[in-house]
Amino acid sequence: MEVTASSPGKINLGLWVGALESSGYHPLLTAFQAVDLWDFVTARSDDQMSLEVKGSVDCGLVPHDERNVAWQAARALAKHCGKEEAVALQISKNIPVAGGMAGGSADAAATLLALDALWECGLDDSTLQQLASTLGSDVPFSLHGQAAIGRDRGDALTAVAIEKPLHFVLCPSEGALSTGAVYAEYDRLSPRASVPTAIDPAFLAAWQAGDAEALAPLIHNDLQPAAISLMPELETLATQIEKAGALRAAVSGSGPTMWGLALNAEHAGEIAQALRADGITTWVTQSSLENPRLRLSR
Ligand code: C5P
Repeated sequence: MEVTASSPGKINLGLWVGALESSGYHPLLTAFQAVDLWDFVTARSDDQMSLEVKGSVDCGLVPHDERNVAWQAARALAKHCGKEEAVALQISKNIPVAGGMAGGSADAAATLLALDALWECGLDDSTLQQLASTLGSDVPFSLHGQAAIGRDRGDALTAVAIEKPLHFVLCPSEGALSTGAVYAEYDRLSPRASVPTAIDPAFLAAWQAGDAEALAPLIHNDLQPAAISLMPELETLATQIEKAGALRAAVSGSGPTMWGLALNAEHAGEIAQALRADGITTWVTQSSLENPRLRLSR
């Protein structure tokens, strides 16, 4: 029996970050939007744990052992369900690695879904969400998919109903940024930060309606100055994305992937073409309105 599950990458249309708490984490308010770029995890029963990683993106940085959050997800689920840690995992990556798009979290979420089915654990959504939150702040959203407001560490989610998708270009910068390092730089730059209690109603309305023009001026990422401080070339990239026609460019999460907002699919294609002509790797994508998926095969 072999089971494959998939989970999408995300961008943060809005990310507001408070000051460091004694837990070592920061309180957040964030607008999570899944995009149509999916990682796949295939799980097959075996007599020991193993992990293979391949994909359409550079996977050089991805660990093949217990340092990989997908491996940790398998371990956490085995412990919770009283199963043996014995499974061959194969990850197929399409989400940029260490790019601020929750690629590792997507792999952990897809592993939970795949192994829950393979091991016939039958866990309900809230138990899976609870396990997900022990693995990383973004893993609950990767399990949820679609669109949601995240609070606390980003793991307390409220679903947002989207009427119309937004269209994006993605520019996966060369190199990686560690989430922890970006947060540490944020503390240095903004030691007395506070987080708003709610998303601006105008932001929410534009997000739900897929109204790119109304949303563009409201896009915000508190971590962007910290990401730029660690990787100054991101500022030039933002200018290039906006010069190519994007309504707004921003860092995704802690970066370094940058995204640009387009008016529609055709406009996104035109922006991508202009950026590629300047030698910048660019993908076109849109809001994903689908749940993380499961596929069973024998
Ligand atoms: O939860 P996750 O393992 O993805 O977080 C990685 C690092 O990012 C944490 O160790 C912490 O330094 C930082 N972080 C934070 N506040 C959050 C989420 C992550 O400080 N809300």
